[in-house]
Amino acid sequence: MDHFLYKNGVLHAEDVAVPEIAAAVGTPFYVYSTATLTRHYQVFEDALKGMPHVICYAMKANSNMAVLRLMAGLGAGMDVVSGGEFRRAIAAGVPGEKIVFSGVGKTREEMRLALENGIRQFNVESEPEMRVLSEVAQSMGVRAPIAIRVNPDVDAKTHAKIATGRSENKFGIPISRAREVYAEAAALPGIDVVGIDVHIGSQLVDLEPYRAAFTLVAELTRALRSDGHDIRRLDLGGGLGIPYQQNSNQAPPLPFDYGEVIRSTVGDLGCEIEIEPGRLIAGNAGILVSSVIYRKNGEGRDFLILDAAMNDLIRPAMYDAWHDIVPVTEPAAGVVPAEIDIVGPVCESGDTFAKARPMPPVAEGEMVAFRSAGAYGAVMSSEYNSRPMIPEVLVSGDQFAVVRARPTYEEMIERDTVPEWITENRG
Ligand code: LLP
Repeated sequence: MDHFLYKNGVLHAEDVAVPEIAAAVGTPFYVYSTATLTRHYQVFEDALKGMPHVICYAMKANSNMAVLRLMAGLGAGMDVVSGGEFRRAIAAGVPGEKIVFSGVGKTREEMRLALENGIRQFNVESEPEMRVLSEVAQSMGVRAPIAIRVNPDVDAKTHAKIATGRSENKFGIPISRAREVYAEAAALPGIDVVGIDVHIGSQLVDLEPYRAAFTLVAELTRALRSDGHDIRRLDLGGGLGIPYQQNSNQAPPLPFDYGEVIRSTVGDLGCEIEIEPGRLIAGNAGILVSSVIYRKNGEGRDFLILDAAMNDLIRPAMYDAWHDIVPVTEPAAGVVPAEIDIVGPVCESGDTFAKARPMPPVAEGEMVAFRSAGAYGAVMSSEYNSRPMIPEVLVSGDQFAVVRARPTYEEMIERDTVPEWITENRG
């Protein structure tokens, strides 16, 4: 459920008419709903009720500072994967003891930063990383709290580029070697083993892979405890999928049922549960609004050419992802959709958002909205083709605010510097 609905024939973000925002910031732009973000955080709180837990929002999905401040205010912890994300979490007011640090390539500098800020836990992904972390912590006179990310070799049944829990993926250590690696961890002077971490992929639309992975984690918890390790936390990662297509029978599992899978697999171990949802919190809390530049009649197919492109929303080009695309002006009842290709202006055939998509008629100059664009949208954008980053707007009830402004062309150009030897040799 989200808060992007037609009211009086016009798409609204909560109580704000989308054209009103467009008039203020120009298209294309992202708009996020405070009510939806809040609600999605709350459904996880409800799903884990009764179990000691921390919800560490995976900010890679949407790391706008306004979104992070909102999450922090709701009591969220954060899952970060870089020094930059760590700094954002701190800037958003999240205390170190609520931040977990994931990722296969943490540098010594990132480790130091996290340790200085009293990090809750590092999710360690390899033995070399663990040894370096021990060294860094020791040099600072502290011990680094860690969970080791285990790779359970289960098929998450999601897109290959976002599956992480198979043995061929670069993530974690094989669960079959876990006891051996935990034994080494316990012997390292700068390491304090606190738990186990697992994350099997993103956009999961089936709970069974979770059940399989968490069952293995429960077995491992018992085995490690019998080896003498004090396993007191389980980080179960993120990945719960969202509905990208409203009019389809695809219905991803509900957070409540996901909570039940957690309860029934690891609920009796007395561990504190950590989860790292990203997409489910932010995905359906955002839309991307764009204007139609041209309608072009091609041979055997027609094109809707938008002012948004793959640099603004790369998911269709990168993962063949589907986003519902709807006109901002509600189509009249009984209007017959016609198939059309929806593309951006970037000079690549890959800059295609949808092929043969049934669409109600939309004229040049009219606006469309990409739904479910709040996660992995703005954060993955670039300035390819020298298209400045597009603005982000947050609504709450009947108010809206620009939470990241569109840079001017001058700002974009002046970010580069030209060395003197080029300007001097001018002629
Ligand atoms: N924890 C870890 C360790 C992760 O690697 C991820 C996502 C998450 C949590 C959050 O997963 P979520 O709840 O958002 O599914 N750009 C891709 C998705 C990449 C996901 C990477 N890792 C996309 O647009 O579909």
